[in-house]
Amino acid sequence: MDDYVASRRVPAYRMLMTSITIPRPDDWHLHLRDGAMLEGVMAHSARDFARAIIMPNLVPPVVTGAQARDYRERILHALPEGLGFEPLMTLYLTETTDPEDVAAAANSGLVHAVKMYPAGATTNSQSGVRDFDKVTAVLEKMAEIGLPLCVHGEVTDAQIDIFDREAVFIERVLDPLRRRIPQLRVVMEHVTTKDGVDYVRSQSNMGATITTHHLIINRNHILAGGIRPHYYCLPVAKREEHRLALRQAAASDDPHFFLGTDSAPHPTDLKENACGCAGCFTAPNTMPLLAHIFEEEDALDRLAAFASINGPAFYGLPVNEAEMTLVKRDEANEFPSSIETGAGPVHVFDPQMPVHWHVSRT
Ligand code: DOR
Ligand code: ZN
Repeated sequence: MDDYVASRRVPAYRMLMTSITIPRPDDWHLHLRDGAMLEGVMAHSARDFARAIIMPNLVPPVVTGAQARDYRERILHALPEGLGFEPLMTLYLTETTDPEDVAAAANSGLVHAVKMYPAGATTNSQSGVRDFDKVTAVLEKMAEIGLPLCVHGEVTDAQIDIFDREAVFIERVLDPLRRRIPQLRVVMEHVTTKDGVDYVRSQSNMGATITTHHLIINRNHILAGGIRPHYYCLPVAKREEHRLALRQAAASDDPHFFLGTDSAPHPTDLKENACGCAGCFTAPNTMPLLAHIFEEEDALDRLAAFASINGPAFYGLPVNEAEMTLVKRDEANEFPSSIETGAGPVHVFDPQMPVHWHVSRT
């Protein structure tokens, strides 16, 4: 870690019990979509986050450098005047991805990672990878140039129980891959299990993002007392012991772990559906929720590491110069239950608890 990062590491000297100032956070895993949905959700991320790793699972997916350049333009076009935000683009890995195109897009500074979806694992993953041997040349090129691979860590084998798919992915896909190409920098995206946390901790050249919602819900929230489609996401939330392991990891100051909201907007009617889409929309309320969680963990002084410092350190980028102040007030937030977009209303993640931490907008 360089001196600059180290000097920003412990902002506790500015921390009072009711106020905390951290370097402006980044979101290392974000779905912005396209068209009317992009227009509707863009401001909700840009208000609180300086940068985000932009997921490429559009239809059709963002596979080439040229497609990423065009998508970046559309994102910047959707950005309201006065809000600073830098989209960090990614490419969607397919079995026919050209290693030279990836290298050119990375070397130009446009692309910051490649995303690997096992085919069929989640929303718009049909073009993902079926035979992992077919992407070896791309992964070797990425290892050579230091470009990170972001993985959706679930097997798609119908024989494997959905609650076991992350742990089995580590054993069958991730660990063999890491042994084959140990220099490849890998982010295990939206880690949801103690198995995942333990594995990442044991590795070098590796990081993991943790979502806001997986720090708050376990599988009971989805299924007990009625089926709640707005808590359904992938990887699906697991047992309580796993949620506790995630909270411990996020609040531990371990540089392996950083915030990736996986904020994934879907129109409400496609969530409240006989075959509902996976995804929680947390962009508008993530930062108050994180302050609440870190206070509960007695770790407010570690919020900066998780939300603002560990991510840029992994991606080799500077910590943001700007700052964010969160204040604790007597009144709880009144988060909107949904936002309106040109693609229809989108339900905002409901933490089902009063949250007294607010982002200071003065
Ligand atoms: O819940 C999820 N939603 N998980 C993913 O992996 C994809 C995302 C989406 O794009 O909707
Ligand atoms: Zn995602």
